[in-house]
Amino acid sequence: MGKKTIISLAYLSLVFLMFNGCGKREEAPSVTEKVEKPEVRWVIGMSQCNLGEPWRVQMNHDIKMAAEEHPEIKMIFKDAQNDSLKQRSQIEEYISAGVDVIIVSPKEAAPLTPPVAAAYEKGIPVIVLDRRVLGDKHTCFIGADNKKIGKAAGKWITGRLSGKGKVVELKGLMTSTPGQDRHTGFREGIKGSNIEVIFEADMKWLEPNARKEMESALARFDTIALVYAHNDPGAHGAYLAAKASGRENDIIFVGIDALPHEGQVYVKQGILEASFEYPTGGRESIEIALDILSGKQVPKEITLASRVFTKDNIDRGGEWLNK
Ligand code: FRU
Repeated sequence: MGKKTIISLAYLSLVFLMFNGCGKREEAPSVTEKVEKPEVRWVIGMSQCNLGEPWRVQMNHDIKMAAEEHPEIKMIFKDAQNDSLKQRSQIEEYISAGVDVIIVSPKEAAPLTPPVAAAYEKGIPVIVLDRRVLGDKHTCFIGADNKKIGKAAGKWITGRLSGKGKVVELKGLMTSTPGQDRHTGFREGIKGSNIEVIFEADMKWLEPNARKEMESALARFDTIALVYAHNDPGAHGAYLAAKASGRENDIIFVGIDALPHEGQVYVKQGILEASFEYPTGGRESIEIALDILSGKQVPKEITLASRVFTKDNIDRGGEWLNK
């Protein structure tokens, strides 16, 4: 066999292998044939009360990840930028656009109740996430039990302070239901102890507000045993204020949210002594939306479980709050 013949034979075998997929007999789609893409069947509109806080960014991410597993749904996201009026219009826009499901994480209960009820009454299923609206004109509420978290925090704090001490409470927005529930739950949790709340303020969930309020508390009180903040940004803001006045080591800081890249890190760093998990419910909202869309009955309320993270339990994944 001449050199040329060998080269041509090798070339021919290569071409043969390429067309036959190395012996596999599967039919490759021809170039003209279109690969069938599942069609979008349903549109879900999500209205997020703001995207300025890490916990909300996480919620949208959880929703997006879950939705991406279902090519039959298309997600639309709107950010209300912490403005209840803007959030009301977003829901009205979703109603006029005729989306198949609305998911809303409302800024405040009262102003968001009428548009949610209007959508519900028009037959558009509405899933309310994390913060509540008033009444029951929505399809399903998903969220953790804020009263229970507040109460567990109160009990944990009572134990940590051996039943007595001066405490600062930095509250979340008190026109939102988690703020109200984390407050009443906490008060129940410390009932009967000698814990004294010497200073309380509404920091509206925001770290810079918490820092400012804590500056006032530090200026007024020489002894503060502990700060209970309704979220981790609030607890961190208080820590920064204490640090600026050299008092961070005299005070214990406790927060809520326990995001893996925020509160849990603060616990590991020793900035917070405890953080109570507040799951976003993002993934669950997509599961419920799909159930609704496929005609299944869904519960009116889904309560998500929560854990407490401390430096002693964080390496084994925290500890679940009692049922
Ligand atoms: C984010 C947030 C969280 C908090 C939740 C309560 O906006 O403030 O930190 O746990 O909202 O609704």
